[in-house]
Amino acid sequence: MTDTHTPYPPELMRDVAKRRTFAIISHPDAGKTTLTEKLLLFGGAIQLAGTVKARKSARHATSDWMEVEKQRGISVTSSVMQFDYQGHTINLLDTPGHEDFSEDTYRVLTAVDAAVMVIDAAKGVEAQTIKLLDVCRLRDTPIITFVNKLDREVREPFDLLAEIEDVLKIQCAPVTWPLGMGKAFRGVYHLQQDQVLRFTAGEEKRSEAEVIKGIANAQLDTLFPMEIGQLRDDVELIQGASNPFMIGEFLAGKQSPVFFGSGINNFGVQEILQALIDWAPPPQPREAAVNSTGTRMVQPAEEKFSGFVFKIQANMDPKHRDRIAFFRICSGRYSAGMKVRHVRAGREMKLANALTFMANERVLMDDGVAGDIIGIHNHGQLQIGDTLTEGENLGFKGIPYFSPELFRAARLRDPLKSKQLQKGLQELGEEGAIQVFELEGGNMLLGAVGVLQFEVVAQRLKDEYKVDAIFESADIHTARWLTFPDELTRRNFEREQVMRLGKDVDGNPVYLASSRYNLEVTMEKWPKVGFHATREHG
Ligand code: G4P
Repeated sequence: MTDTHTPYPPELMRDVAKRRTFAIISHPDAGKTTLTEKLLLFGGAIQLAGTVKARKSARHATSDWMEVEKQRGISVTSSVMQFDYQGHTINLLDTPGHEDFSEDTYRVLTAVDAAVMVIDAAKGVEAQTIKLLDVCRLRDTPIITFVNKLDREVREPFDLLAEIEDVLKIQCAPVTWPLGMGKAFRGVYHLQQDQVLRFTAGEEKRSEAEVIKGIANAQLDTLFPMEIGQLRDDVELIQGASNPFMIGEFLAGKQSPVFFGSGINNFGVQEILQALIDWAPPPQPREAAVNSTGTRMVQPAEEKFSGFVFKIQANMDPKHRDRIAFFRICSGRYSAGMKVRHVRAGREMKLANALTFMANERVLMDDGVAGDIIGIHNHGQLQIGDTLTEGENLGFKGIPYFSPELFRAARLRDPLKSKQLQKGLQELGEEGAIQVFELEGGNMLLGAVGVLQFEVVAQRLKDEYKVDAIFESADIHTARWLTFPDELTRRNFEREQVMRLGKDVDGNPVYLASSRYNLEVTMEKWPKVGFHATREHG
């Protein structure tokens, strides 16, 4: 910017422009873990891939999830992976693989500027992909599509693109196109570069000889006599009928560049990295409430530090018994020892030993700018959605809680342990592992999006709080956060509905409906009361 009034420090602008912060989204089994590893491999962050298998078998062992999660090592510490690639700093945020953890996944997606969507070329668009894309759409997050497993017998590429466009309502702009598939998968044609990239299983560096320039090149006829005709027909069709890639449409979340490849064979991975660098946006401005009076866009290169907590993880390392708040920097620069304001708590806080995460080790962070994720040790002071700032009282918006779909009442085997149970549930609730509601009379109700969450909480209560709790089914269909137009309505509503009321961990009132019908009737009876299926943190 040549504007002499620009308030932004030039080095900060330069450093922010180099950041790329993204997540990979996919239906389980489409190849997210594999692609993650291959991106790290190409980014030089790990030396060899090969943990995929171990992680895979671990995922099925749901009952001893915590134990397994500890053994998996990489997946626990790999919630965030930072690596440098071609002069850029890339932050890859992991989303939990199991669909039961979709709530956590949703929140991670609030902290990224772009997403890579992996589609299994044999299966096409699957249920979890649809849900995740809906979440990305809330913020118009730009999406890069990777159609994976071309080395298998898969569906027609045109079919796949049509399905993505129809079901996910996003325009597809093919950037590469397969040359053959399954056993006859020979490579991809790069539509912009007009060259064929030959497929070699498992290679790490592409040699010159594997790039054949020009689709009309006679070498292609010699090498791929069976497949080249189809490719030329396809390309003619694409050039006539499909959308050319348009960066503006991509950045607006309306169009997705599509790449074909095979993650397990390292093929197509380099093109994804290149797209992230060339096309994915650097850290974007974010909306925040200011002093609870209005809102403004916080620019990433503003000098004053700010950001928000989007995830909490306990006991990353059993030896430390700590809780780590994952914090996305939205503006300014982190420096060790800096003082920041914890807006919700209304007090100062020193950020001394923030961590960054390099593949499978923790590293002390000494410098971070917008787009970077830092890990802040804490003992419960920080909750999901909390904002820390150096300047005014900001509150970043859009980090959602979703209404749980499953409910259980917590009961103790040993009634003398009720204090520990309360403490454990309060802390696990703040961490976002489960949603916890306190009922009239002090009983605790748990709410989850997936059944596995209950198992994890039961195990953690036992391990970390020495509490043996039983979870019993509860007569609850759904929960709605309540807002009231005035004090009188609130009091009247509470008097009438006392049996169906609870409070979440932050003390917000919640209506616990016994059935859909019960909810409808109550909503009809109280038209001025707001019943909300989601609530923002903080
Ligand atoms: P996820 O994280 O999305 O759940 O998927 P993940 O990477 O674990 O991959 C799911 C399965 O698909 C794995 O097979 C993996 O090896 C395989 N896979 C990933 N990419 C490709 C590809 O490009 N081609 C082929 N043919 N397979 C691919 P698995 O049988 O579950 O495990 P494993 O026994 O192969 O390790």
